[in-house]
Amino acid sequence: MTTMESLIGLVNRIQRACTVLGDYGGGDNSFSSLWEALPTVAVVGGQSSGKSSVLESIVGRDFLPRGSGIVTRRPLVLQLHKTDDGSQEYAEFLHLPRRKFTDFSLVRKEIQDETERITGKTKQISPVPIHLSIYSPNVVNLTLIDLPGLTKVAVEGQPESIVQEIESMVRSYVEKPNSIILAISPANQDIATSDAIKLAREVDPSGDRTFGVLTKLDLMDKGTDALDVLEGRSYRLQQPWVGVVNRSQADINKNVDMIAARRKEREYFASSPDYGHLSSKMGSEYLAKLLSKHLESVIRARIPSITSLINKSIDELESEMDHLGRPIAVDAGAQLYTVLELCRAFERIFKEHLDGGRPGGDR
Ligand code: GDP
Ligand code: NA
Ligand code: MG
Repeated sequence: MTTMESLIGLVNRIQRACTVLGDYGGGDNSFSSLWEALPTVAVVGGQSSGKSSVLESIVGRDFLPRGSGIVTRRPLVLQLHKTDDGSQEYAEFLHLPRRKFTDFSLVRKEIQDETERITGKTKQISPVPIHLSIYSPNVVNLTLIDLPGLTKVAVEGQPESIVQEIESMVRSYVEKPNSIILAISPANQDIATSDAIKLAREVDPSGDRTFGVLTKLDLMDKGTDALDVLEGRSYRLQQPWVGVVNRSQADINKNVDMIAARRKEREYFASSPDYGHLSSKMGSEYLAKLLSKHLESVIRARIPSITSLINKSIDELESEMDHLGRPIAVDAGAQLYTVLELCRAFERIFKEHLDGGRPGGDR
């Protein structure tokens, strides 16, 4: 692993440990500031625009419930941890510690079950997030958040207030300056009607932290193309637009796997008369690389402030460990210790990194 990968990996683990701690110590402490300083990627868009499909492609694994209608009903905070110790790929939920999932169809089932534990078998939503970590040699270190889709009307079984509730929930994630917005719009709808772009424009008017993703290119009407959007003429963002082709519902029903889906997507772009000239900058694999490069540059720019927050956390943690001693719950104590160790590791690697040359010079 490169130094930068180790630093981002540590950032990921610190975030996870901070989550376990929750607002332990009263909310406004240096853990919450630390979490706010670390970047996350939030996936936003209208219902059935392809958010969960895009997330799965980035991870390169089938594990999310997908489909028509409202499927994602609680936020899913997904942390990808790149491993390099040759261990088998596995997933772990925060609410089920010590259970390692190696069968990803069981991960999907657990997301469904855990969603229903709070919301029942309804079309209701809940803002209480589900936390899932995936440990794999094949992922990039990233924290991604899958969110319920923005809608315009309540359907049977939903209260009228749901439209506003979903919007406020999504907004609470994307308005934070540390959030990178993955704005998903389907190519078979006019971009001027995109819920994702509408919200992104409000919370990130300069377009610095918004990545526009255009899904369903394969479903556009014959004789039309998405070049105006993909080439930035319809709606300009600081980051390039990326077009993707996910699995259709028919593909899902036929159990087309991820490897086949990615091959199909590559072939789609390579052979497309409209997008052939853009094919090296299209597709889910390219999107994953683009995001991780962006994340790296964000973290690099924030290393000084992250380091000083970490130092503050170390001080705070050390004095809490000293003072709390016995009264503290065993789990919380262990987690505090974990954060402390991770923060120290970050500091150490960062120092070695500085001593070893210019930041990122090892790439
Ligand atoms: P979400 O509600 O935004 O999370 O959307 P999903 O990922 O659950 O996808 C909704 C439906 O659209 C599913 O049936 C997907 O198979 C289908 N879908 C998503 N992206 C594409 C795409 O690029 N092409 C095609 N043909 N279907 C897609
Ligand atoms: Na859906
Ligand atoms: Mg979804």
